[in-house]
Amino acid sequence: MAKSAPQFACTACGNVTSKWSGRCDACGAWNTIHEERPLSSSGPAAKSLGKARGRAVALSDLGIDEPPPPRTSSGLSELDRVLGGGLVPGSAVLVGGDPGIGKSTLLLQAAAAFAGAGLKVIYASGEEASAQVRMRAQRLGLRDAQVQLAAETNLRDILTTLDAEKPELVIIDSIQTMWADNVDSAPGSVSQVRAAAHELTTFAKRRGCSVILVGHVTKEGQIAGPRVVEHMVDTVLYFEGERGHQFRILRAVKNRFGPADEIGVFEMTGAGLSQVGNPSALFLSERGTPAPGSAVFAGIEGTRPVLCEFQALVAPTPHSQPRRSVVGWDGGRLAMILAVLEARCGIPFTGLDVYLNVAGGMRITEPAADLAVAAALLSAREDSALPPETVVFGEISLSGALRPVAQAENRLKEAQKLGFTRAIVPAGGSARDTSGLTLTEMGDLASVVGSIFGA
Ligand code: TYD
Ligand code: MG
Repeated sequence: MAKSAPQFACTACGNVTSKWSGRCDACGAWNTIHEERPLSSSGPAAKSLGKARGRAVALSDLGIDEPPPPRTSSGLSELDRVLGGGLVPGSAVLVGGDPGIGKSTLLLQAAAAFAGAGLKVIYASGEEASAQVRMRAQRLGLRDAQVQLAAETNLRDILTTLDAEKPELVIIDSIQTMWADNVDSAPGSVSQVRAAAHELTTFAKRRGCSVILVGHVTKEGQIAGPRVVEHMVDTVLYFEGERGHQFRILRAVKNRFGPADEIGVFEMTGAGLSQVGNPSALFLSERGTPAPGSAVFAGIEGTRPVLCEFQALVAPTPHSQPRRSVVGWDGGRLAMILAVLEARCGIPFTGLDVYLNVAGGMRITEPAADLAVAAALLSAREDSALPPETVVFGEISLSGALRPVAQAENRLKEAQKLGFTRAIVPAGGSARDTSGLTLTEMGDLASVVGSIFGA
């Protein structure tokens, strides 16, 4: 390709191609490909060698007794947990999420918390003027927090400020508003977002200053999404939740310094986000008397057990093609469970619309929820509630067999703590200490159907 030939990049995944198309070959998104200038058209040829001499060090020469990186705890335990036990100096963190979900609120609270823990913090806002950030701080009761504000969008100005102020943590809200004047494309484009993230993370590594980048998830259009910079940072967190619900979940999807899949649970209130120490109690709080279609799943999110409720509705369809609608769970997995119920248990869902929802706006990804989904579907179809105070977990294989899942004991302990008395689980699991819980151990889905619904 000639040097001056145009380049095209996908704003959803960052994939670069030489020609435009309506759909991205890499991620399948529509209308996300836009023209971009190549990052450095006038720099030295890539094949020429740099002047500085590189150095390679034998792995065995590196100190093996080095202590783990010191971490700063913010005091917000839900945030610290998701970071893997606190913020690592010099690390780069990306916090992605839909616009309006509460990222700025979370990070202003985090900024104040880290400042309270003794860090020098700069909050650079490209989206709101200083006065607006101050108003938000007042609403959150953080007016006196020792956080420096910078309402800047020019990357060079921000780096100059950081160079002079030498903060220990800088928060960039948001990466899509940052603008590097040596890159020849509009703010928010793939090249701009990449360049800004690259400069900021390298600065962070060099100076031992941590950086938190905020990235809006964009459905389509000209603005590059947070996925474009995921590979440049140490930790990727997504802030998620349903607009109509007050619960917000901060989920680690990548973490070089801690377990991935860890979640922190918050509640959006009139005075900012408050931490939820016992998510199970919260997710189950809307549950009344056992109703048909409801099954409580004892799940594990990261290192912590979390109970939540699956709700199913099964109704005759007025359409030729029945509907399958899922919120908070994988649609493909639902189709698999419906197929197993039909093929292995002789329970068809043809001609029936199926709706499945996880209460409270929670999103479940564990296959261990298979059995809870199947139980909710069966209960809805039979219009008969599951036995009261019962939790369910287990993975279902295509043959209809139930597979034991990890951390059964932790799941059961949490269920017991919340007052559950029975559990339907796969046979052959490792859970032994279940005093106080009646275990119903099942080898396959057909016996679950038989024992609960007498079919
Ligand atoms: P915001 O943090 O601005 O979202 P983001 O930065 O992800 O775009 O939060 C926006 C929403 O949060 C807004 O609809 C108002 C609501 N909110 C509260 O409910 N309570 C509060 O204390 C604050 C500051 C915001
Ligand atoms: Mg914001």
